[in-house]
Amino acid sequence: MKVTIFGTGYVGLVTGTCLAEMGNHVVCVDVDAGKVERLKKGDVPIYEPGLEPMVIRNHAEGRLDFTTDAAPAIAHGDVVFIAVGTPPDEDGSADLQYVLAVANTIGDHIDRYTIVVNKSTVPVGTADRVRAAVAERLKQRGVDVPFDVVSNPEFLKEGDAVEDCMRPDRIVVGSSSERAIERLRKLYAPFNRNHDRMVVMDERSAELTKYAANAMLATKISFMNEIANIAEHVGADVELVRRGIGADPRIGYHFIYPGAGYGGSCFPKDVQALARTAHSVGYDARLLGAVEAVNDGQKSRLFALLSKHFDGNLKGRTVAVWGLAFKPNTDDMREASSRRLMEQLWDAGAQVRAFDPEASDEARRIYGERDDLVLVAHPYDALEGADALAIVTEWKAFRSPDFQRVKSLLRTPVIVDGRNLYDPAIVEEAGLAYYGIGRGRSL
Ligand code: UGA
Repeated sequence: MKVTIFGTGYVGLVTGTCLAEMGNHVVCVDVDAGKVERLKKGDVPIYEPGLEPMVIRNHAEGRLDFTTDAAPAIAHGDVVFIAVGTPPDEDGSADLQYVLAVANTIGDHIDRYTIVVNKSTVPVGTADRVRAAVAERLKQRGVDVPFDVVSNPEFLKEGDAVEDCMRPDRIVVGSSSERAIERLRKLYAPFNRNHDRMVVMDERSAELTKYAANAMLATKISFMNEIANIAEHVGADVELVRRGIGADPRIGYHFIYPGAGYGGSCFPKDVQALARTAHSVGYDARLLGAVEAVNDGQKSRLFALLSKHFDGNLKGRTVAVWGLAFKPNTDDMREASSRRLMEQLWDAGAQVRAFDPEASDEARRIYGERDDLVLVAHPYDALEGADALAIVTEWKAFRSPDFQRVKSLLRTPVIVDGRNLYDPAIVEEAGLAYYGIGRGRSL
């Protein structure tokens, strides 16, 4: 099939590449000419395991191309995906200007039956707005071209994006048009292993499904962080509690890891946007507000622990930070807990020496050159001359450090672990003070 994708961010680029991999002819459109040129050369601007070789191969074999030129790209596609960003507005609701701008462009150029598929995470009712925008442009052109709008949210995770896209656990298709549903069934057939993974529903339900999924996962995390905080007060170990409850299949082991809070481009934004949507229709989404509030508090936990350890005086101290990305296997620092920690440390007059396997360039881009941030190339380099080690991201490289070496490099032997990577007994046996999240001794 011939496919056009607007937006070469995470969702657009991964979806386009996976559709090309399945034999479709895909053209990706982006307004950023520099990015398009890089992609044509096989230079993928994001760090995503497995993506770059797939982009290079499909581009070389003629199934995947990149352009800034919308008109021929729209003429190419029988199916046109919208996968552009929906950043939060000032009040937390999703900003639809990019989605609607693409809808306008589509309306300006289509000249045969086209399926417009929205993959961006958008508030309920956006499919109607996209439909109206396309229809309005067709009216202005004085033409009557048939089209359908489908809501087809994406559920891929950064770091596992290619795998999630190639082996989805469900494909949500929101549409009231049988014709569009049948075409998408064909397009997605190669992704339907063993049994049909397509869940067909109306547009609004599909749009809400995306928010509900992310809000549910964020809720699990905040719930567990709340239990961690209670555990600290009552002298229990949340890691044991986690194992104890995860064994119940109705609860499950996924997404119940307490920590320094969730970050990334999705959970914080989507929980807020869903709360705004609810508010806009007169419903007070109390649970979502609490999920956000708990997460906000959690992002300050590492600083609070350090501050307590050093009796509220961090001025002139140096803290080694392991992990800057919002989670492992990505270089993405959007809403990362590391940012809150570093900013609080700087405000308190402390210095940061940070190591991340992938996100150093991103940190440099965000913070520029500054005296109180030293980015190092090896985990142990971060410890030199540091008073404490804070772990913010659970990269594999941090899982089993040489605690003796850590101890000998730190000026004061203390680890503040925002991801509960270690057995407290082992760290303490090595002669280091150890604070985890919800481990009964961190108050
Ligand atoms: C999330 C969802 O998991 C995807 O299903 C969804 O498609 C995506 O958002 C999206 O809407 O595009 P992502 O933001 O890439 O994916 O990352 P996650 O793996 O979900 O992690 C989010 C955050 O939660 C990370 O900061 C992670 O450290 C934190 N987390 C996760 C915890 O603190 N505890 C856990 O148990 C799990």
